[in-house]
Amino acid sequence: MNPAAAMPQPLAEAAQPLADRLREIEQPVRIIGHYDCDGLTSSAILVQTLLRLGKRFHLSNVLSLAPGVIERLNREAPALVLFTDLGSGYMDLLAQLEAPALVVDHHLPQGEVPGNVLELNAHKAGVDGNREASAASVAFALALTLDEANRDLAPIALAGACGDRQMTGGWKGWNLEIANMATEDNYLKEKQQLPLHGASLAEALAGSLEPYLVGVSGQPTAAEEALREIGLDPTAASDGLAGEEAARLADWLVLKLLEQGAGSEQCEQLFAPSYQLPGWGCTVSELASLVDASGRQDDTSTGIALLLGSTAARSRAGAHELAQRKQLLALLSAAKFERRNAIQHFSTSEPALKGTICGLALGYFLDRSLPTIGLSPRDGELIVSSRATPELIERGLNLAEVMSQSAGKCGGIGGGHAIAAGATVPLDAEEQFLAAADEQVAAQLGL
Ligand code: C5P
Repeated sequence: MNPAAAMPQPLAEAAQPLADRLREIEQPVRIIGHYDCDGLTSSAILVQTLLRLGKRFHLSNVLSLAPGVIERLNREAPALVLFTDLGSGYMDLLAQLEAPALVVDHHLPQGEVPGNVLELNAHKAGVDGNREASAASVAFALALTLDEANRDLAPIALAGACGDRQMTGGWKGWNLEIANMATEDNYLKEKQQLPLHGASLAEALAGSLEPYLVGVSGQPTAAEEALREIGLDPTAASDGLAGEEAARLADWLVLKLLEQGAGSEQCEQLFAPSYQLPGWGCTVSELASLVDASGRQDDTSTGIALLLGSTAARSRAGAHELAQRKQLLALLSAAKFERRNAIQHFSTSEPALKGTICGLALGYFLDRSLPTIGLSPRDGELIVSSRATPELIERGLNLAEVMSQSAGKCGGIGGGHAIAAGATVPLDAEEQFLAAADEQVAAQLGL
């Protein structure tokens, strides 16, 4: 498949001016990327593309686009800044940047694009940035525009899209084109298998986050008992299960998920194909987990190095992933969720994991008729994550608006996507923020 033909025309056209700017620049490019899986994968695609063009760069991956980032850039005075997986929601801030800038993003665009900025945003190029393209998919479009030989970066783009939950329910739009291209090049292979990973069946169940099994995940003895009850050997290899035994385990998993109130999307995920990356020796979701854990464990350089092919970084990322999995399993069973009229919320001392906890808890066991908000103190401020279900979005919920407006009412900032958004508010504004969010969600849902 010719990549230029596969790329939606508006995306190809929007990428061209940014490609021209990068081709002509002779000074180092200052890259600022988000710290999560999509931010790191999109950064790695841009870094690899610049290296192949013989360009120099200086990369930093940040928690958010705070005013301090702009102040720092103004002190550094780079020739060109390249923002990835952030920027489109914060054009007011970018107007304060003295250097010219490029933005590669898929968040909902907000505000007028200032004269110093050239923006490549999925939504503005007719591609749904919530579902059909992550920042890594958009960065991949830019990489292909610069050189078709960059199509080998497709697995990294898919890992970014997976990190932003765009794989759930199957690839769509530009992501699907990327997956087709990768399949044609033999970088991607579909395989039908249950999403359980571990040396033994008991280890796979006890370590399972997706699916999260209430009372079993994080509890090795309960996992062994559950397997014995359905007549399976807990010590059997988790990837060796086939035929009637695999069907028996799948039936038990579906029943368990239905009993604990998991969403239909989460149940269907049990039977979704797993996407193998032969060149990487793992699946798309395993690569995404390694990168995600590196970012959230405050080691973004390991995430980038692993994506550039370092085996030492890959083993460090493996250790981060294991540590993060254990931490998430402990936090999920200990979190105290409180309900209000239209929202449910919890607090955690782990700011980097609150969004993941929100998503897993809402997907697997909380009341799915209320969006979930997680709060965590960090550096004298309160940082917030929120997650919704596709059904709530269909009923009119938009968390990007809820976060932006509720935070605005108490002196903070917020934004993101309709289904997943975040905010930063003053530490003493917790009650005011939650009350505003509760009221606004109720208004959006007509409660
Ligand atoms: O931090 P978290 O993963 O919960 O963020 C969810 C989404 O909201 C992300 O896409 C993030 O970039 C966006 N966000 C934002 N502004 C904030 C916090 C998060 O746009 N202040």
